[in-house]
Amino acid sequence: MSLTTTKVQVPLVDLRANHRAIRDEVRAAIDEILEGMQLTIGPNVKAFDQEWAAYCGTKHAVGVGSGTDALQLAIRALGIAPGDEVITVSFSFFATAEAVFYSGARPIFVDIDERTYCIDVAQVADRITPRTKAIIPVHLYGRTAEMKRLLAIARDHSVAVIEDAAQAHGARMDTGGKAGTAGRLGCFSFYCSKNLGAYGEAGSITTNDDDLAEALRQLREHGQVTRYYHPIVGYNARLDEIQAAVLRIKLRHLDGWNAKRRAAARKYNALLSGSGVVTPEDPGDSHVWHVYAIRVPGGERDAMKEFLWERGIGAGIHYPVPIHLQEAAQFLGYRSGELPATERVAGEVLSLPMYPELTDEQIEHVADGVKAFMAR
Ligand SMILES: Cc1ncc(COP(=O)(O)O)c(C=O)c1O
Repeated sequence: MSLTTTKVQVPLVDLRANHRAIRDEVRAAIDEILEGMQLTIGPNVKAFDQEWAAYCGTKHAVGVGSGTDALQLAIRALGIAPGDEVITVSFSFFATAEAVFYSGARPIFVDIDERTYCIDVAQVADRITPRTKAIIPVHLYGRTAEMKRLLAIARDHSVAVIEDAAQAHGARMDTGGKAGTAGRLGCFSFYCSKNLGAYGEAGSITTNDDDLAEALRQLREHGQVTRYYHPIVGYNARLDEIQAAVLRIKLRHLDGWNAKRRAAARKYNALLSGSGVVTPEDPGDSHVWHVYAIRVPGGERDAMKEFLWERGIGAGIHYPVPIHLQEAAQFLGYRSGELPATERVAGEVLSLPMYPELTDEQIEHVADGVKAFMAR
């Protein structure tokens, strides 16, 4: 059976099911915007910025056009430029490094902790040089990185921390705060399939720093402070009113949806225990399960993915090629074998369907598929 023609019974994510729960509210909000026709930075963006900051627990949030914009503006607001170095991970979505590339600085990749899939904090201090300007931990899959220890290292070396919290809306950190609140800047993506997803593209940057917030507001709108007066060169990185209105509605559901993701992850873990795949650790509130990824040993990951697809199960891989081995990053000079944990994990992870509306029957169907593959 071909992968493209299989009827998927359990998709990797189900945005239609999610929309059904809020359809009337969303339609009313969009209608109201279309009546007034204020389509960009307006009352919904202002309200969402306040509501997102309040939810996260920061003084400010600055809505932008995407998570990539968030990272790019954060890096720029800190004055990071060619000649500088930024320590981050290679096991992430490409945008984490892409934002560093845009600035002309050099990403320095540190390996991951195989238990959490986040940055291995023990390896960070050795990579800090006089050129290091920032560290970007990624709260991958919705699990928060080990922040207390990382913040201490960053403080000791006077290096800024920018959190890539694109996958971790509402996840708790070991600092007690929510993802995106411990570093100088926290970067979020509201890409449509995220735990808090817009109906298109959107992002936000959180911070407690008044000056940085002001700089980010200026950068998101072409560097202007007053309309058509541009003291600096900025970006077109605005959040639009329709996306902000949708995000305001969805934010009211986020904690409930995250709780459902946790319950689904626990059910998967229970059903898959003893099956031969490696199930992810359940760290409680510090995980919001944007992605539920198992590890398939023995070089069989791709075969399992195909096996599941043939049973109507939309498994995915986040991410098959680490950033340091991507073609676009070859100029950095990394070689295969340099980040062993990252490379091992990238070859074994398989994401199973994960979204709040998953039913018990769907979870059981997925688990049965995984077990059938392992037992064959
Ligand atoms: C870890 C991570 N960083 C950055 C991004 C970039 O966000 P966006 O797609 O909204 O530009 C994403 C999302 O796709 C992500 O998952």
